[in-house]
Amino acid sequence: MEITVGITGASGTIYAHRTLQLLAASGAVETINLIVSDTAITVAQVEVSANLREPSAEKFNNWLGLEADSNLIRFWRLDNMAAKPSSGSNKQAGMIIVPCSMGTLGAIASGACSNLIHRAADVCLKEGRRLVLVPRETPYNAIHLENMLKLSRAGARILPASPGFYHRPKSIDDLVEHLCFRILDQFDIPHSKKSQWTGEEVKNEK
Ligand SMILES: Cc1cc2nc3c(=O)[nH]c(=O)nc-3n(C[C@H](O)[C@H](O)[C@H](O)COP(=O)(O)O)c2cc1C
Repeated sequence: MEITVGITGASGTIYAHRTLQLLAASGAVETINLIVSDTAITVAQVEVSANLREPSAEKFNNWLGLEADSNLIRFWRLDNMAAKPSSGSNKQAGMIIVPCSMGTLGAIASGACSNLIHRAADVCLKEGRRLVLVPRETPYNAIHLENMLKLSRAGARILPASPGFYHRPKSIDDLVEHLCFRILDQFDIPHSKKSQWTGEEVKNEK
């Protein structure tokens, strides 16, 4: 499977990091087209002290703990509108934007493609391919909510960065993974399934 991942400048670099690691570990993905916004690089520095300046496949292999010569990650510059994911003729499963800023969300909702992340998402929508957006902001204003509704109606899956607690997470990693598993589920990509709800008899105490 080939898939595109965009990382934008919303809070939640940790979600991008874990999602990429899980995609790599799944055995189901041969190529990840990776695109990173300028502000995502700033947020990565602030949140996880990662130096992703002058990004490259080698830099991301190192950040994700992959072999230096792994060719899983195909890195594309944000201003490269001639990149592979910018064309509908490139057959791929779809795209994940994790985390997705309100700025990127608005650009995609308006159809204004001023960078490769916007364009690649627009291509997924026009080709009817899976587009999973992981928005993060709080509180949402009416513009954010209208943009999400518009995108949902256009075929995007809105998967907010709001992890559940019913699997009784013991750590931040548990919380993060729970959300990332749900992202992989959107593409039927295998994972450990340890957060899958299998049903439980709950008796209300009177
Ligand atoms: C540390 C930091 C955290 C941010 N968190 C958010 C956020 O959670 N959600 C959001 O929509 N924007 C957030 N922003 C603002 C966006 O990065 C900003 O709107 C940017 O222009 C988005 O551009 P991009 O979508 O191309 O990455 C944050 C910025 C910084 C520096």
